[in-house]
Amino acid sequence: MQAGRYSGQCQSIYWKAALKYNMQHNRLYHDLSFLWPIVSPPEEYAVEARHLREILFGKLGPRRHTLLELGVGGGHLLSHLTSAFEATAVDLSEEMLALSAELNPNVEHHIGDMRSVQLRRTFNVVLAHDAIGYMLTEDDLRAVFQTAKAHLKPGGVFVAAPDWFKDTFQGPSVLHWIKRKDNLEVTFIEYVDDPDTSDTTIESVFFYVIKEEGILRVEQDYHQTGLFPKSTWLRLLKDVGFVPEEINYPPYQGGYGGNLILGVLT
Ligand SMILES: C[S@@+](CC[C@H](N)C(=O)[O-])C[C@H]1O[C@@H](n2cnc3c(N)ncnc32)[C@H](O)[C@@H]1O
Repeated sequence: MQAGRYSGQCQSIYWKAALKYNMQHNRLYHDLSFLWPIVSPPEEYAVEARHLREILFGKLGPRRHTLLELGVGGGHLLSHLTSAFEATAVDLSEEMLALSAELNPNVEHHIGDMRSVQLRRTFNVVLAHDAIGYMLTEDDLRAVFQTAKAHLKPGGVFVAAPDWFKDTFQGPSVLHWIKRKDNLEVTFIEYVDDPDTSDTTIESVFFYVIKEEGILRVEQDYHQTGLFPKSTWLRLLKDVGFVPEEINYPPYQGGYGGNLILGVLT
């Protein structure tokens, strides 16, 4: 890429176009989904799940509540919640649902879009963990909040754990780590940036250096995610009929997360 030859808005447009049209999107959830349990293994979600359980029990009481997760991914977080909640899960990706179904055999899994899915049932909790990061516009976020409302019992709780807020996002930055499982070693590198600060999205380029029995291959992937001020989250939740709250949420994993937004349905 020759972005250095361009400047200002022109550079940003060039960069976006190059990423959008030259690279495949969201491969981690499709042809590269086998990498998910290696680069972000279930055991890394135990502390976060404990915090979440305590927060939800604090709001709803310590009973076995029903929970719907929108954007369950590989079900890694959910695997630490199923002993406490009766769970149902939704995701856009068949490959990710298959991973979650294997890890969480007692959970009912449905393919669907968190902006429009209609299970025609209500739950005590609707969770849209880090997957809510894939909502790119205020309309997307509002649609997820409407989905949550339609699937919650009165007094039910909606929880989201966005990786970033506009208020605190610092880019460009690089996150990286090396993980091993069986005969695979995966070096994961994410370059994340906000090339156009006037819109509500950020862009990530992932490089996966995969070593299998001494043979290296490199795969790349492009993800576009949403970036909103905290005030937007709280305003939209209120508009849809929730009492919104930002909760102190200690878990912070390798540069991601540490944010919890909650809404109680009135
Ligand atoms: C980072 S993964 C979630 C990982 C999950 N927290 C776990 O514990 O394994 C993000 C997931 O969001 C899903 N996703 C993205 N957009 C979606 C949408 N509109 N509706 C439902 N799922 C979506 C992707 O298919 C992917 O599985």
